[in-house]
Amino acid sequence: MAGNAAYDWDSFDSEDYLEHNYAALHDEDRKILNIVRDFLCGHSFDTDTRGVDVGTGTNLYPALAMLPFCREISLLDFSGANRIWLTRQLREYSANWDSYWKVLTEQEVYRSVERPRERLRRHTTVQKWDILGSVPEARWDVGTMFFVAESITTFREEFTMALGKFCALLKPGAPFAMTFMENSKGYEVGGKSFPALGIGLVDVRDEMWELGNGLEFHHVNVDFQPLRDGCSGVILVHGHVK
Ligand SMILES: C[S@@+](CC[C@H](N)C(=O)[O-])C[C@H]1O[C@@H](n2cnc3c(N)ncnc32)[C@H](O)[C@@H]1O
Repeated sequence: MAGNAAYDWDSFDSEDYLEHNYAALHDEDRKILNIVRDFLCGHSFDTDTRGVDVGTGTNLYPALAMLPFCREISLLDFSGANRIWLTRQLREYSANWDSYWKVLTEQEVYRSVERPRERLRRHTTVQKWDILGSVPEARWDVGTMFFVAESITTFREEFTMALGKFCALLKPGAPFAMTFMENSKGYEVGGKSFPALGIGLVDVRDEMWELGNGLEFHHVNVDFQPLRDGCSGVILVHGHVK
């Protein structure tokens, strides 16, 4: 059992994580993208909208999902290695993300973004952030946090804290989407072990009912993948911050 601070996040092997998870589009990510895309498309955002993705790691698809709606997107991560990877990718993201973008373009608003690489470069910044640290005033209008709260610790209190502090970053009423590994026992990246708290739908419901309104929960089955092996599915929740 260990908390978030016991792990060397700066030595997270970004390329290895990318290779195992996002080099090719997997069926569960396609399903997640479909749900998040359609959820976001159900809102009208003003021209000043600011989006945030917490614990971005090497996953660009939450930012791509928010891209047409945001004037600014902040990608927040505690890991120096992941921030370097992100800063490089923002210059000209790699071809593997094209298949994710293609799923998004099934909705018209994404097709209206002619040059997604350029838009992401111009509108997105990367910042060092500790989601378990102090919270500034609620400043973002829409947010995502994928595979973070349950995958940065084995402590229940830190899982709870990450969810509360994520919601506190968003303005009241802001739409959000989060994903979680179900029943994960931890994961290996580049030969190093990283923690997870084995949670299920009930745990996410218990934590979220007092943080969000209009909550919808989804369960997505996971096909075999090396890094997601041993995890029985993905839980997705979306709603609006109270
Ligand atoms: C399992 S990865 C998820 C990455 C990505 N969001 C995804 O969907 O695959 C967990 C991420 O949380 C980041 N992280 C770990 N501790 C954190 C903290 N205290 N605050 C913010 N991010 C943290 C890690 O660097 C890593 O990028």
